[in-house]
Amino acid sequence: MKETILRLLRERSPEFISGEEICKSLNVTRTAIWKHIQTLRESGYEIEARPRAGYSLTAVPDRLYPSEILAGLPTRFLGREIYYFDTLSTTNDKAKELAYLGTPEGTIVVAEEQTGGKGRLGRHWCTPKYKGILVSMVLYPPVLPLEANQATMLSAVAVALAIERKTGLKTGIKWPNDLLVGGKKICGILTELGAEMVKINYLVIGIGINTNQDTIDFPVELRGVATSLKNELKRKVNRVRLLQAMLAEFERWYQVWLEQGFAPILARWKDLSVSLNCPVRISTPNDHWDGWAEDVDKDGALLLRLPGGVLKKVVSGEVSLRLPE
Ligand code: BTN
Repeated sequence: MKETILRLLRERSPEFISGEEICKSLNVTRTAIWKHIQTLRESGYEIEARPRAGYSLTAVPDRLYPSEILAGLPTRFLGREIYYFDTLSTTNDKAKELAYLGTPEGTIVVAEEQTGGKGRLGRHWCTPKYKGILVSMVLYPPVLPLEANQATMLSAVAVALAIERKTGLKTGIKWPNDLLVGGKKICGILTELGAEMVKINYLVIGIGINTNQDTIDFPVELRGVATSLKNELKRKVNRVRLLQAMLAEFERWYQVWLEQGFAPILARWKDLSVSLNCPVRISTPNDHWDGWAEDVDKDGALLLRLPGGVLKKVVSGEVSLRLPE
């Protein structure tokens, strides 16, 4: 009922809708309507009430509420089922639980804050409450486990295009899937999968976008290497609109992937890459290699030309961009 009242208010906004009209549409009393209006106000919706005119929605809260995400979401299946949490340990684990239980493809898990956010290579991902976009998507692509990496690269393309479409800001992809602005990280992606030898049971793609953090929100040691959209644009970004755009881009490219394979995704990924045709260092927990990032192969592995001339295929690791010597 609360959701329906919100929809009616939204459809009429910024005009007023009379209490009588709401009562008629929902077949309930004015007292019941008033109670729901109060609950909506407690959730952060600003609703003006005027005698004889009725109610008008004047502002929506800066929250990733499902009702906000669904209002105007142009996707067919992605984000149609939303699990929302004010606080959660990690959206990826919740999404994996749901995937295990067979939640519909395209289900997303969104949190305003994570207490155990996970990054790649065992790192943590920390974002102050209400300032970032923390989302995990559940997918069941009919591909082999070794092709899962392609979906991660697809995600990086989708986020980069959505950020550019919504804010005008150009981001670059650092292999395999970090998004950078001015050399600083603005988005990270962590893909986890449930699989058998020859079949993916589910794919969970977790995306963290640094959206409205100020510099002081980043730990001191990250200030030189991380940034946010707000920092770069000098203005707040509407998280709901950006998330909707990202879901729309992802769904579009996911369809391309399933119908045409990885080649079109890889071509777009290469266009957006800032870690190809340049000197790089690849680090793993126990080793590192310096070389020339020559290309990415058809599976998304980085092809590193070592100083001796050997071409090394790198499937995982951390890329640091090196200045030419
Ligand atoms: C990286 O190390 O770059 C990957 C970071 C991925 C962070 C996102 S935030 C939403 C999802 N839930 C998690 O715990 N991690 C991912």
